[in-house]
Amino acid sequence: MKEIFSRRSVRKFTGEAVSPEQLEKLLRAAMCAPSAGNQQPWEFIVVRNRETMGKIQVFHPYSRPLDTAACAIVVCGDTIRQRYPGFWVQDCSAAIQNLLLETVHLGLGGVWMGVYPSQQRVQDCQQLFRLPQQIIPLGIVALGYPDEQPQPRETYQPQRIHWESWEEV
Ligand SMILES: Cc1cc2nc3c(=O)[nH]c(=O)nc-3n(C[C@H](O)[C@H](O)[C@H](O)COP(=O)(O)O)c2cc1C
Repeated sequence: MKEIFSRRSVRKFTGEAVSPEQLEKLLRAAMCAPSAGNQQPWEFIVVRNRETMGKIQVFHPYSRPLDTAACAIVVCGDTIRQRYPGFWVQDCSAAIQNLLLETVHLGLGGVWMGVYPSQQRVQDCQQLFRLPQQIIPLGIVALGYPDEQPQPRETYQPQRIHWESWEEV
């Protein structure tokens, strides 16, 4: 719960490298996510090459965090492997959230940068990483050691909760 309540998007990093062991822990957490019918449609591209990170910035308008990130993980869904059409988006979103929570647990930081459903970003990303047509990039996580400490904030809104039906009867 500590990780859930203290997680914030981190967009500035120190430049210190993230180890292969840490990357494995992050990916283990991601692959532990629930998925529709346990279809686990995810695929991950780990990017540590600065030049490639620069190429992401050419097509992604909100990817400034990559200026200082130690690496990026592109989270994709395999639309052929999925047995429950369309659910790959929710499955891969759950994987990204798990990955982000594990960054907090490891003393790292990260931010989710959306790709799908922007068709242009999907296309550019598919081209850059030479993805097969059925592999759709959902999002890119920029991560590394935090060089900023955004504080937890209150987001609980009881008025957004509807008991039994939309309006109380
Ligand atoms: C689907 C999705 C797409 C996002 N895309 C971006 C992005 O492209 N660039 C970015 O800096 N942050 C992005 N974010 C991070 C949000 O801006 C951030 O989660 C939100 O402002 C709440 O702040 P917090 O994560 O610190 O609680 C994205 C988050 C989600 C869930």
